[in-house]
Amino acid sequence: MFGTNTMPIDLTPEDRTKANDVYGHWGQSIDSYEQSVQVSAFSSKFDAFLAGQHTLTADEMAGFELFNGKGNCNSCHVDGRGTTLKPNQHDTSSAATVNPLFTCFGSANEGLPLNPRNAFYYQTTPDSFGFTGNPYGFGYRDLGLGTFLRSGFGSGPNPNSTWTQFAPSVDGQMQVSSARNVAMTPPQCPSTEAGLTPYFQKELFHNGYMKSLKQLVHFYNTRDKFAFPVTSGHCPSGTIEKVNCWPMPEVKQNLDMTTGNLGLTDKEEDQIVSFLQALTDGFTRPYPNIDTFTGTCMTCNPATDPNCSPSRQGNGILIPTPPLPPCASVICNVPPLPSQPIP
Ligand code: HEC
Repeated sequence: MFGTNTMPIDLTPEDRTKANDVYGHWGQSIDSYEQSVQVSAFSSKFDAFLAGQHTLTADEMAGFELFNGKGNCNSCHVDGRGTTLKPNQHDTSSAATVNPLFTCFGSANEGLPLNPRNAFYYQTTPDSFGFTGNPYGFGYRDLGLGTFLRSGFGSGPNPNSTWTQFAPSVDGQMQVSSARNVAMTPPQCPSTEAGLTPYFQKELFHNGYMKSLKQLVHFYNTRDKFAFPVTSGHCPSGTIEKVNCWPMPEVKQNLDMTTGNLGLTDKEEDQIVSFLQALTDGFTRPYPNIDTFTGTCMTCNPATDPNCSPSRQGNGILIPTPPLPPCASVICNVPPLPSQPIP
């Protein structure tokens, strides 16, 4: 709608029918592409294992057990099995008969720190089209689903106004991503994890704060154990950010407490990483165009660079978060208000 005009494009009824028809087909073709083996290949090592055509290594298998056991990952990243949280518990559920998608399509706030490396915080002046991405600079906070329910800054309109009242109960929640293909890389950079071999740098979670799968799992494991009331770039001396210091969440509301202090050992974290790596498609049926990456891989030298390890990957480019202005009122003072004020 443009103003009050519900039909801003002046089409004849015939042309409107044609346009609607083309639009419908366009939607259907995207849908069938997404369902096709080009996108949803289900050709990972894990899928071959489920089909009884491949055995997982001991570490991958241990990672799978931790994923639906001590790590409790599958309560959100549904892996097709039941959950066994206690060491002597046995999974008596039957495995799903469909390909597990590793997401429940729900939302949760995992308590990611604000990432001052995001270009968005600096998009405070008009671009060549006169568009200002983020007039609030570091006064921006990402309330995730909460902003969507309020039809707030940066969000499309909430299609159902009866949902708006629930915004305070979902502030800070992001959609549960699938854990599938999280380790996918171009073949010439075979890993996401920094070390001796060339690697492909990922930016994980919604704001890219996590730089390796090891860090991601270590965060779930120790977020609350190594919690410090600081922003990124300000961990106390004697601590190392992402190793034994996690800056405070950007949004404290509705923090998911099923994770944060899992008691996993270093080795168990690595086993979960091995399992995540077994979720990459292309194992049984290589993607035809997997080798079209023309960029360069990342390299580093563990002998001379202390950040050349999955645990400290990316720490060399951390920048101190500037002193944060209060959250802009068009974000945090929109009714229904957040359950407590957001700093
Ligand atoms: C309470 C629900 C919940 C639990 C439990 C959970 N996750 Fe997640 N996971 C999420 C949400 C929500 C996101 C998206 C978060 C974001 O983008 O900020 C996510 C994202 C991910 C991603 C994708 C990251 C990316 O950028 O593609 C991986 C991989 C992942 N989780 C692995 C795990 C592992 C491993 C565990 C167990 C140790 C786990 N999750 C436990 C909710 C959960």
